[in-house]
Amino acid sequence: MKKTGKLIIALLFLLPVIQASGQKYNELARTPQMGWNTWNKFGSKINEKLIKETADLLVSKGLADAGYIYLNIDDCWQGDRDSLGFINADKEKFPSGIKALGDYIHSNGLKFGIYSDAGSKTCGGLPGSLGHEYQDAITYAKWGVDYLKYDWCNTKNINPVGAYTIMRDALYDAGRPVLFSICEWGDNKPWLWAKEIGHSWRTTGDIWCCFDCIKDHGSWKSLGVLKILDLQEGLRKYAGPGHWNDPDMLQVGNGMSVNEDRAHFTMWCMIAAPLILGNDLAAMSDETLEIITNKEVIAIDQDTLGIQGFKAGSENGLEFWLKPLAGGKWAFCVLNRTGESKTYNLAWNKFDRTDDLSGRSTSFGSKLYLVRDLWTGTDSGSTSSGREITVQGHDVLLYRLDPVYSDSLANGDKLLWLNGEKPYIEIVSHNSMTSAYNETIKLSLLSDSNKLLRTYENKIVVPSGKEVVTRFPLTLMPGFYRVVVTGSLGMVKKFNIGYDPEKIVSPPDAQPDIREFWNKAKEELAAVKPEFSLRLCKDSSTLLRNVYLVKMKSLGGEEISGYLVTPVKEGKYPAIITYMGYGSKPWYPQPDGNPGMVEFVLSGRGQGLREPSNKYGNWITWNLGNKEEYYYRGAFMDLIRGLDFICSLPQTDTLNVFAEGGSQGGAFTIAATALDNRIKAAAPFIPFLSDYKDYFKIVPWPGDQILVRQKELGLSDEELYKMLSYFDIKNLALWIRVPVIMGFGLQDEVCPPHINFAAYNLIPSAKKYVCYPWKGHDVGNDWWQKRMDFFINNKRTSDK
Ligand code: GLA
Repeated sequence: MKKTGKLIIALLFLLPVIQASGQKYNELARTPQMGWNTWNKFGSKINEKLIKETADLLVSKGLADAGYIYLNIDDCWQGDRDSLGFINADKEKFPSGIKALGDYIHSNGLKFGIYSDAGSKTCGGLPGSLGHEYQDAITYAKWGVDYLKYDWCNTKNINPVGAYTIMRDALYDAGRPVLFSICEWGDNKPWLWAKEIGHSWRTTGDIWCCFDCIKDHGSWKSLGVLKILDLQEGLRKYAGPGHWNDPDMLQVGNGMSVNEDRAHFTMWCMIAAPLILGNDLAAMSDETLEIITNKEVIAIDQDTLGIQGFKAGSENGLEFWLKPLAGGKWAFCVLNRTGESKTYNLAWNKFDRTDDLSGRSTSFGSKLYLVRDLWTGTDSGSTSSGREITVQGHDVLLYRLDPVYSDSLANGDKLLWLNGEKPYIEIVSHNSMTSAYNETIKLSLLSDSNKLLRTYENKIVVPSGKEVVTRFPLTLMPGFYRVVVTGSLGMVKKFNIGYDPEKIVSPPDAQPDIREFWNKAKEELAAVKPEFSLRLCKDSSTLLRNVYLVKMKSLGGEEISGYLVTPVKEGKYPAIITYMGYGSKPWYPQPDGNPGMVEFVLSGRGQGLREPSNKYGNWITWNLGNKEEYYYRGAFMDLIRGLDFICSLPQTDTLNVFAEGGSQGGAFTIAATALDNRIKAAAPFIPFLSDYKDYFKIVPWPGDQILVRQKELGLSDEELYKMLSYFDIKNLALWIRVPVIMGFGLQDEVCPPHINFAAYNLIPSAKKYVCYPWKGHDVGNDWWQKRMDFFINNKRTSDK
């Protein structure tokens, strides 16, 4: 009675604490846990003698020293719960009690793990923790438990997130750091929710001791090594220090062949799995001991980066795996899934991979790695050349690649030079080998249309432990160029540079009647009633701004659309019209993004919101050759109709209407600003539709489509380019009278900088550009603020 009273009082005091706590012990399992567990070999046939002997063996066999410090008792240690609900051990199996056993384990310098289940009963039919979580956690703490494997049997109608969270909180409350190993078999995708709950989570059902089989137990199945491995696909991004994918415990030494054991162990290391042994340590073969104590292999698993490896390819039954390691190293593993020995010609550059998760690249072309064969424990040359490898059936080859020599571009962001500056390319070669390295570094300079202009070559000797800088000074005419740098190992880097871009000359080639052509189009447009219609999008609107879906009529009676965002508060606001890219999906501006502005994203004919009713095919070749009917005649008029709309709004301060857009939207921005003086400042980026003749020489698209169509139509070059000249934004740029800012990506292979500048250089009004040296068909994140600042700086108070 007395005891019960105390317990109730204790529990009452616990309650507020329970709510306030709620976390796991974050400092544990920073690398995947290592240890030994009873289940795989002994199942329910366990007792304190076995555990004590195993503790002794973990130490005497050097396993503890290799990292296996958790000694875990799995299911079937339990007896009954006492009258108060506290759990007891099975008295026959554990006559000295669990506390004494824990003490024994700790006295060996090991840590002690135990097992329970989130349901009413464990998988072995013994008492589970359901409803007893806090009590059990207190008991474990009293016993000195350091690790809890928490199973998922008999949990019908139980929410897994809740169940595992309760036990996590109970453990935290009990105050003794316990590694929490979630054993939910992957049924409810624990990788999506368990990161803050446990230190690892099982990703699959139970492992069976076979290489590639499925063992059917009737109501459930267990899986061989390869079956489990294949189920790890797509999960690597969820794992990391303190939260690991657990493909289940090891079966090494339990009956597979030595090759299979080695492959199993290696693959578990490659995927940063917890390494929990499950064999009989008293009857272990030398080969088994050798496998599980190979410290260099274990180090792959325990690497501090904590990034799971990935499959980098497969061929003819072989799989190639890479795992990024700390210090710029990699693990490279070849797994032979088949039963026969395989020989393979390994060319390193075939495995040139950039791993998005770690942000690391193997870069075999510009880095030299020393190869260490971890299973033979020998140094095995370098990656300077390919090699023939042989992998036995159901076996692996495991290399660690240590970077020892590298060439890298040292220009940083300096890839564009202005008049008066001296262009150069700088390569740093770094040698951390014990001997000097001779290298020839070559640089090829090509025009942006891929004509080889010059080659440079430099022979260098890089002393051991040193860096050598190779600088290639370049003499350039205004323009954009391609650079290819190669070293003795292969390609170092391929990239674009530029010099004095504002001096690039692409003379206008407009026909004398171009003004007339566009004036006529504008007159035609003016004759079309716009029929603006607005529909409020309630769900997307906020307290600050309303979002509307807008429709209107444009040239030829064509319906066009857009999303409008206007401030809720009455007033006059500056307005931005955004023109869309080629094939862009529709979007509307963040309602709370620029609350003091009217913003309108226009979908012109057949694009964006209009794409479902697109009748213009791929747009760019629609009625090519016929300037009166060409797609872009109508599309350019849509830009003006969009301005008609925005200027008709009571909220728009028409002194401050700005235009912007990227790619096709960049070209539209320039075209609209040239054709309509209601735009007061413009921010095109990576603009399209210019300087066609040169454009088609520099990059394949859209020239390929246009030139095919040209042939089909039997148009001469003269006819083609004459017609296109009406739609070349460089010819329209001459009419712009307002400030312009242009953003461009130096590595753009869609709308290359040459064509961006063809138009830009002909703009007669105030202008500036922003170069993003490493961007392709894109701008940097700071562009959005830059262009907004530009608009704000160009705000007018009167129409002067
Ligand atoms: C489940 C687990 C196994 C083992 C047994 C014990 O099957 O997945 O790892 O713990 O229960 O009954």
